[in-house]
Amino acid sequence: MNLKQIIKDDIYNILSDSLSREDILIENPKDRKMADYAVPCFSLSKILRKSPNDIGLMIKENLNNELYESVDVINGYLNIFVNKKKVIEYIINKLKEEKEEYGSNNMGNNKTIVMDYSSPNIAKPFGVGHLRSTVIGNAIKNISEKCGYEVVSINHLGDWGTQFGKLIYAYKEWGNEDVVRNNPIDELKKLYVKFHKEAELNPELEDEGRAYFKKLEDGDEESLKIWEWFKAESLKEFAGTYNLLGINKFDSYNGEAFYNDKMEPVIRELDEKNLLELSDGAYIVRLTDDMPPALIKRSDGATLYITRDLAAAFYRKKNYNFEEALYVVGNEQTLHFTQLKLVLDKMGYEWSKDIKHISFGMILQDGKKMSTRQGKNVKLHDVLVEAIELANEYIKERSPELENSNEVARQIGVGAVIFNDLKNYRTSDIEFNLKDILKFEGETGPYIQYTNARINSLLNHKQNVNIDYNKIIINEYTWNLVFKLYSFPEIIIRAKEKYDPSELSKYIIDLAQDFNKFYGNEKIIDDDINATEFRLVICEIVSIVLEEGMRILGIEAPKQM
Ligand code: ARG
Repeated sequence: MNLKQIIKDDIYNILSDSLSREDILIENPKDRKMADYAVPCFSLSKILRKSPNDIGLMIKENLNNELYESVDVINGYLNIFVNKKKVIEYIINKLKEEKEEYGSNNMGNNKTIVMDYSSPNIAKPFGVGHLRSTVIGNAIKNISEKCGYEVVSINHLGDWGTQFGKLIYAYKEWGNEDVVRNNPIDELKKLYVKFHKEAELNPELEDEGRAYFKKLEDGDEESLKIWEWFKAESLKEFAGTYNLLGINKFDSYNGEAFYNDKMEPVIRELDEKNLLELSDGAYIVRLTDDMPPALIKRSDGATLYITRDLAAAFYRKKNYNFEEALYVVGNEQTLHFTQLKLVLDKMGYEWSKDIKHISFGMILQDGKKMSTRQGKNVKLHDVLVEAIELANEYIKERSPELENSNEVARQIGVGAVIFNDLKNYRTSDIEFNLKDILKFEGETGPYIQYTNARINSLLNHKQNVNIDYNKIIINEYTWNLVFKLYSFPEIIIRAKEKYDPSELSKYIIDLAQDFNKFYGNEKIIDDDINATEFRLVICEIVSIVLEEGMRILGIEAPKQM
């Protein structure tokens, strides 16, 4: 049941001679004291050649359905209050039956969405910069699946490119195997930094680096071996971070290197379509006047990031026949993805329109890009560990008796970091302040988890008796809360359409707040068995939606905390 649809159908049945369904608008009034739903009759006035009030009155006279409590016409609006008991009973039954399936829809009809997200760079620390792509991507994946799409998740590892030539050169020149083995990522980072310092004094090094990358591309055995080793070490380290986040399954880890032998046909096709242009020894594709051309091949023959992304787009279209291909990557790569789409478009592929850059803002600390005191990238792993430690301190203070407190601390700490990332519009920059995001009040992950854990302990009192709805009295808090649950399916659709998990995060916060108002306003458990059971059932269905919302966002829901 969708109340708006029902109202629409009822009105349409009255006016079907002169109107089409699309002419009928159903609004949610800002002021819910006026109505649950309002139907503006102004636009109908032209079609029916009657005043809005007369139209309203005519509909009112003919409307009859036990779901409507009252219907009024005021200032050209038809204001409808629904029969709250009937609606509540309906929602309770629906949620008890569908449980965590509630809110699912079949918009996707099993069509495939390819999602490229997380995608950290090999031989570099997994920094906070990749946190956003990882958690936003994961949430959009879950939202899409909830909408009936088949999702292929791809971790497009940054494991190819000139930087690896430089790194191999640096390792061979200044590196030591044992030192690197002991602490791979930090040591490789040092070598990479050293390369750039030295190259400032001695620019020929840049050529050395490029030459090594060329060797890699040409399959030089020694270079490949070193590269494979670096990659394996990186993946080991990344796995630790993914495990903490609870996001550790991608359908594919085919990164940039995977496309090394798949670029030639693309370059040939560009050439055949007369799109390739020689410029200072390099091959480029000219795009629009106000955009730099896409650099496809360097003068030394080495390929580029976009060349590999072109090959990847073809590979994905061919192998997954996607309906949409989403790339969850920061704002700073907008030009890259605009160019990628344009090149495909120029090649004549109409599916270039299905390639979508799902961009997002930066993580800021005190208004500046987040970095350590030395100005280096902050490792995500370190941030998560710190959040977990802080959560552990809170637990020791608040509930020293808690069983498996370490596991709960991980759920709270990590959940706090994830929720902070997802609660603002995707495209906004976000502030990161560990103390704030771990607060148990306000718009935080712990607040939601705590609300849900509180519900969970209440549910121990449930007796599973049948509720007599005739004896139930519904107050404002109860109605607001249950009515909130009613809009969950719409929120899922909106989150999918906007590719924005914050639609859901904001909803979950509202729901938790509405629950706490309900909880603060009345005693849940008293001597009235029927009323107590009713309130507990409401607790139960709120928890179903809270937990499902958290699951979609990638946040765990501890039963006790
Ligand atoms: N590794 C890249 C980076 O960290 C992100 C890759 C995004 N995906 C893609 N197909 N380009 O900047």
